[in-house]
Amino acid sequence: MLRTRLRRRCASRPLLLRGLAYPIAIAADAPAVMAALLSGLGREVLVAYDRRVKTRAAAFEAALRARSVSVLGSHGMPSGERIKRMQEVVGLHDWLIERAADRRCLLLAVGGGCLTDVVGFAAATFLRGITWAAAPTTLVGMVDAGIGGKTGVNMPQGKNLVGAFWDPAAVVADLAALVTLPIAQRRNGIAEIVKAAVIGDPALLDAVDRVAIDAPPAAWKSVIARAARVKVGIVAADPRERETRAGLNLGHTLGHGFEFASGFRLSHGAAVAVGMRGAGLLAMKRGVWSQAEHARVLRSLLRAGLPLYLPSLDPERVFEGVGRDKKRVGGQIRFTLPLRLGLVRHDEAVTAKEMRDAIACCLRKPARDELRW
Ligand SMILES: NC(=O)c1ccc[n+]([C@@H]2O[C@H](COP(=O)([O-])OP(=O)(O)OC[C@H]3O[C@@H](n4cnc5c(N)ncnc54)[C@H](O)[C@@H]3O)[C@@H](O)[C@H]2O)c1
Ligand SMILES: [Zn+2]
Repeated sequence: MLRTRLRRRCASRPLLLRGLAYPIAIAADAPAVMAALLSGLGREVLVAYDRRVKTRAAAFEAALRARSVSVLGSHGMPSGERIKRMQEVVGLHDWLIERAADRRCLLLAVGGGCLTDVVGFAAATFLRGITWAAAPTTLVGMVDAGIGGKTGVNMPQGKNLVGAFWDPAAVVADLAALVTLPIAQRRNGIAEIVKAAVIGDPALLDAVDRVAIDAPPAAWKSVIARAARVKVGIVAADPRERETRAGLNLGHTLGHGFEFASGFRLSHGAAVAVGMRGAGLLAMKRGVWSQAEHARVLRSLLRAGLPLYLPSLDPERVFEGVGRDKKRVGGQIRFTLPLRLGLVRHDEAVTAKEMRDAIACCLRKPARDELRW
């Protein structure tokens, strides 16, 4: 029914994903789709956006107004990881109070994963929780961060240490925004798409290989949908990350160590790419992951221009960084390891020796054998 309603109201056909309590759409005319979804809720809207996508935020506001949804105001924010902090949440709360927002309001976040994480958390904590919706404008946001209701901020002691599970009322990936997304940011998204392929959709590797990194938005629609479907499936099975949702951490445990050791100068996508190689090496050593599948994954990462090794990092700093990862259970680091394409095992205890060996390999160029498939 929702599908029919959207098709009737929107010029282009949005792709609608089901499986969670709220609709997730991927749309060329995301503002119109978002407006169609929100107009039925009878709420006044406040828009918080990343200043880099100001014109997209304006398009959302215009589409809402065209559907007679009242927009109480909009709030531009700086961008990137540095906005994921408590001060920004407090700033958003101040703005909401100034605009006399109440429980009937809806906070719409237009931006990448950092923006949706922080705005979602402001929504979760304002008046003990107000409704929000997300319009991701980065590949990472569309396939990962915007989906699943995890919101939060970083602390000086570590990433994502404070947050809440707070589901949005709707998620509409803004395909048109991809036009301005820089190549480096597209690469970060591809690392997450490759991760989704390894976790739950092997054929997605071929599909993502076929999209040129600078391809126009329409070319991305189906790979975004496939990767997002993997995430939706995992979140639906374990919404509060009590068990299997941890599978989404593939490549991230070592990845956080690399990010830490680089002083957070390394891009997240690069860290995750090498982290996936490290998880693959660990799994191969244990005899649970094949050489051919490992090499297949590396091929997609290489094709996207992602690195496979990080020669300039200090292995001990990486080790220390992994130890700071919040995914520790009782002091023990847990890994997600690949078993075969489309299947991973989460919560695998790894010894310090195994981890040091994997880190050492990740700082070295892969031997030809590792890449043979
Ligand atoms: N909540 C979750 O479940 C979840 C999952 C994965 C990642 N994350 C979080 O997401 C964050 C990373 O998200 P991200 O990669 O989207 O980062 P981001 O939000 O910082 O966006 C990356 C950069 O792209 C810019 N940008 C955004 N959209 C643009 C566009 N359309 N055109 C041009 N520039 C644009 C931003 O201003 C920023 O400089 C991390 O903090 C990570 O922890 C959260
Ligand atoms: Zn990630």
